[in-house]
Amino acid sequence: MISRAKSEALFAEALQHIPGGVNSPVRAFRGVGGQPFFVDRAKGARVWDVDGNELIDYVGTWGPAILGHAHPRIIAAVQQAAERGTSFGIPNPLEVTMARLVKSAVPSVEKVRMTNSGTEACMSAIRLARGFTKRDKIIKFDGCYHGHADSLLVKAGSGALTFGHPDSAGVPAAFTQHTIVLPYNDIDAVKAAFAANPDQIAGIILEPVPGNGGLYLPRAGYLEFLREITAANGALLIFDEVMTGFRLARGGAQQRFGIRPDLSCFGKIIGGGLPVGAFGGRGEIMDCLAPLGPVYQAGTLSGNPLAMAAGIAALEELEASGAYSKLEELSEQLEAGMKAAAKAAGIAVTFNACGSMFCAYFTDRPVYNLADAMHSDRARFSKYFHGMLEEGVYFAPSQFEAGFISAAHTPEDIEKTVQAAAKVMKTL
Ligand SMILES: Cc1ncc(COP(=O)(O)O)c(C=O)c1O
Repeated sequence: MISRAKSEALFAEALQHIPGGVNSPVRAFRGVGGQPFFVDRAKGARVWDVDGNELIDYVGTWGPAILGHAHPRIIAAVQQAAERGTSFGIPNPLEVTMARLVKSAVPSVEKVRMTNSGTEACMSAIRLARGFTKRDKIIKFDGCYHGHADSLLVKAGSGALTFGHPDSAGVPAAFTQHTIVLPYNDIDAVKAAFAANPDQIAGIILEPVPGNGGLYLPRAGYLEFLREITAANGALLIFDEVMTGFRLARGGAQQRFGIRPDLSCFGKIIGGGLPVGAFGGRGEIMDCLAPLGPVYQAGTLSGNPLAMAAGIAALEELEASGAYSKLEELSEQLEAGMKAAAKAAGIAVTFNACGSMFCAYFTDRPVYNLADAMHSDRARFSKYFHGMLEEGVYFAPSQFEAGFISAAHTPEDIEKTVQAAAKVMKTL
């Protein structure tokens, strides 16, 4: 058994000072049992815990570390920016560079505004969609996470057309009564919602490739259908690309699947590991934002120079290094290896992958939405997770999270991971 004595001592102390010992709930390992480890440092595709254990990391700080941890170009950019000041609260040139970079990568974005988190980006995009369309209702999908803003913190209601029920204490039901929650990949449910709410739906927000219920892909034609039905009904199509943006392709899921949404939300990668978010889209919609229009949105630290410098460095390095084709190759290697490992171990695994995102579900059924994902044997996942950790491989501590490959992973890392999985799966 690997020693985690220092992590355990730190967690015991953290529990005295921080609710649940963590600053974001999934970090507490509640989804798999046990205790989190504390990280001392990270470099490339590796993290080292405070007890000196080395791990191959597929969490990548939940998505941002697409170039691996502590990439020299990002570190240098942050250091240089810090010398000039850590925050100005007045425009700085890096904000313009960032906006230009996002626009050039994502053609549906004609104007973009920076925020400090993905939550803020999605919350602001929804407000903007409502302000622009002068309608209140929003469709979201079961299992899609758009941050923890009140009106979006809703999972499935009791039926496709019922109003949403809050997913958290402290969210008044009135705040979510305009949120309609539907199953993902279900065309009829969306048609029925539009039929039942004529001229009332401001927009549909979705993760185009949902990565917060594990990972499942849109069925052929589904995203095209959402594009058509929103356009036909005067509603906006909002792609939450906080996770998929600059990951599934330089232009995100919308490039990969050839869809042009009205609004898009970003985060994670575009901050190069610093706190960031952004939302953007059609110019006429974006111009409804204050100070030009009536939709208010603001932020003391929005466009922060350190976050902009880190994000610009990340986006430039992604382009210069040809990272995306490498990520596709690594992903294919991992998928083939994991499927073979499961087969050799004789256990049912549905392994979903899209670009550098992946998820192993312990079920023999295909997974296309959250209800399918719920069929996964979560006790088996927990054993798998802990077994992999013992073997020096860190996957997300929940069945309902995507894994991320970075450009710093090597074919040898993937091979080690597959070997470890082959060993662990035989014990499940
Ligand atoms: C798709 C998606 N949207 C929004 C968010 C919220 O972003 P943040 O945690 O930066 O507030 C996340 C976070 O994981 C996400 O995956």
